[in-house]
Amino acid sequence: MMHSFAARAARAAASTKTVRKASNVAVLGAAGGIGQPLSLLLKADPLVSGLSLYDVVNTPGVAADLSHCNTPATVTGVTGVGNAEEALKGADVVVIPAGVPRKPGMTRDDLFNTNASIVASLAEACAKACPNACYLIISNPVNSTVPIFAETLKKHGVYDKNKLIGVTTLDVVRANTFVAENQGKDVRDVKVDVIGGHAGTTIIPLLSQVPSTSFSDADIEALTQRIMFGGDEVVKAKDGAGSATLSMAYAGAHFTSQLLKALDGQSGIQECAFVESSVTDAPYFSTPVTLGPGGVSEVHGYGTLSAYEQDVLDKAVPDLIAQAEKGIAFAAK
Ligand code: NAD
Ligand code: LMR
Repeated sequence: MMHSFAARAARAAASTKTVRKASNVAVLGAAGGIGQPLSLLLKADPLVSGLSLYDVVNTPGVAADLSHCNTPATVTGVTGVGNAEEALKGADVVVIPAGVPRKPGMTRDDLFNTNASIVASLAEACAKACPNACYLIISNPVNSTVPIFAETLKKHGVYDKNKLIGVTTLDVVRANTFVAENQGKDVRDVKVDVIGGHAGTTIIPLLSQVPSTSFSDADIEALTQRIMFGGDEVVKAKDGAGSATLSMAYAGAHFTSQLLKALDGQSGIQECAFVESSVTDAPYFSTPVTLGPGGVSEVHGYGTLSAYEQDVLDKAVPDLIAQAEKGIAFAAK
């Protein structure tokens, strides 16, 4: 039985003690390695009133399973190639982990040929079905898929730079974890900003700006490398069975929840995110951004860098420009 997002949201709002703005979240790629645990975490998020799952395969089973969890969010599932629009109607936030993951020996850019078309087709469906939603892009290579998504929305005349966000939260999650271990701190007290993009040497943790820490030069080199290549660590350990899924689901759910709070009117929410940016010469770049009722309300700069960080940044910007141009050229075909 199909229910509209609005009817489901009204029921969910009526069943909670605190009435909040209804927040309908759609997950595209919901039956995948990230999609399933991400959808579970979103089903448990009190800010989500309607959860709409879409995948080209296996969505009914995931939706039926999740719908039995006794949390207010109502769950529906749509499956089948070309049916995304049905799942997207009424969505406020669309989270997109659709696409193939890496195997050992691959770079994220090696996923471009497959994932570029998937992302472009989903952007097209979003432009038609929910042109005012916020879009959170997880599909790799993020440095190119975000520009592809932007160009596709522009073709349909519905691009809003404040509502398109590449999710780089996993880099921050990793940085917090590795820095806390290195410094012998409680991880809940550590907050590392990670700027740049989401691929290898474009991932730039700003260790010089983490308060109350002391790093040797060797620590800085080793930690920076580990944060840049944390994804490879998981790809190698999974040995052909894919890339990070559980930590990504955790990171994606955290970012979505922060965005929902901001859309709901909570002020002062800041996260690092890969957005259209004039902070460097790269057209898309990750820095801390403030989230507000319309998506990104302010893109912040990166503050004062150490000489080491400046050198890494100078090398990353040309790569970010090239990877964005590759996405833009693909979308122009
Ligand atoms: P997966 O193969 O387990 O799941 C992907 C899902 O996407 C599958 O269920 C598949 O059926 C679905 N799919 C494929 N084409 C689709 C389409 N056109 N519409 C809807 N669904 C479609 O892969 P995964 O491990 O979940 O990873 C998904 C993507 O996320 C990969 O590209 C991976 O590289 C990326 N990723 C990004 C980050 C990040 O930090 N941004 C972290 C981890 C993984
Ligand atoms: C990650 O950082 O874990 C993801 O981008 C997946 C990958 O390919 O490494």
